[in-house]
Amino acid sequence: MDDLIKSLGYRYLQETKFDAQTLGRTPRLAIAPAPPFKRYAEAVTLPLPTDWVMEKSLHETLQYRRSRRRYGEGPLSLEHLAMLLWASQGISGRSGNFFFRTAPSAGALYPVETYLSVRDVEAVPAGVYHFQPAEFVLERLQEGFSGDKVAAAALGQHFLAEAGVVFIWSALLRRNFSKYGHRGLRYVMMDAGHICQNLLLAAEGLGLGACPVAAFYDDQLNDLLDLDGREESVIYLAGVGLKE
Ligand SMILES: Cc1cc2nc3c(=O)[nH]c(=O)nc-3n(C[C@H](O)[C@H](O)[C@H](O)COP(=O)(O)O)c2cc1C
Repeated sequence: MDDLIKSLGYRYLQETKFDAQTLGRTPRLAIAPAPPFKRYAEAVTLPLPTDWVMEKSLHETLQYRRSRRRYGEGPLSLEHLAMLLWASQGISGRSGNFFFRTAPSAGALYPVETYLSVRDVEAVPAGVYHFQPAEFVLERLQEGFSGDKVAAAALGQHFLAEAGVVFIWSALLRRNFSKYGHRGLRYVMMDAGHICQNLLLAAEGLGLGACPVAAFYDDQLNDLLDLDGREESVIYLAGVGLKE
């Protein structure tokens, strides 16, 4: 026990437990919410296609998914990229002002934003993009290959520089913390897990290879995306490419 207690994670888990005595009596933290969608209004946008199909069964997809770190030569198709974005964070339903997505999210707050470092995707020049699910478009933030910087930031995991595209997920904390306070971090990380698993399964379903990555120098990636690392910070990555 004494050793576990040294861990911040352990203390966080203990201090954010719900129990019947205190639930509802803990004062809510005064944290202002954030808009549900982040937009780069000045960015050039690239519309994404919606006419794709996935043929593999869920059974096969679950059976054969593996973390794949070696990729074949050649571009990913734009349809495949669009499908991966839709599978991970696409809008799949609406109720009043709420838009629901393919991956579940605590309180339907969707605190996770998706960025892409594109190396080799048909009709998408190499660059850094932000995914805008409301309009189903990419917003271009930077031109040129950045996979080498992503790989360097990911503790030198070179396969990320060889992926056709790297998904970079950030957490926009106040979207969730405004409702869930101290407990919110649990949910943000769960949201990210759902999103990444949807991506990994969609990649397998499309015959692509993908690998999740959580080992990285956070602020190197925040700098690449021009995020402040406080309001919004990178939390997870996944490389995707053609299967070798
Ligand atoms: C939260 C998380 C972080 C991970 N981080 C890395 C990573 O930084 N680099 C890497 O090569 N694989 C990473 N992986 C992939 C695991 O190594 C892989 O899932 C595990 O070995 C099981 O193999 P499988 O995914 O092929 O079933 C990560 C997986 C998860 C779920």
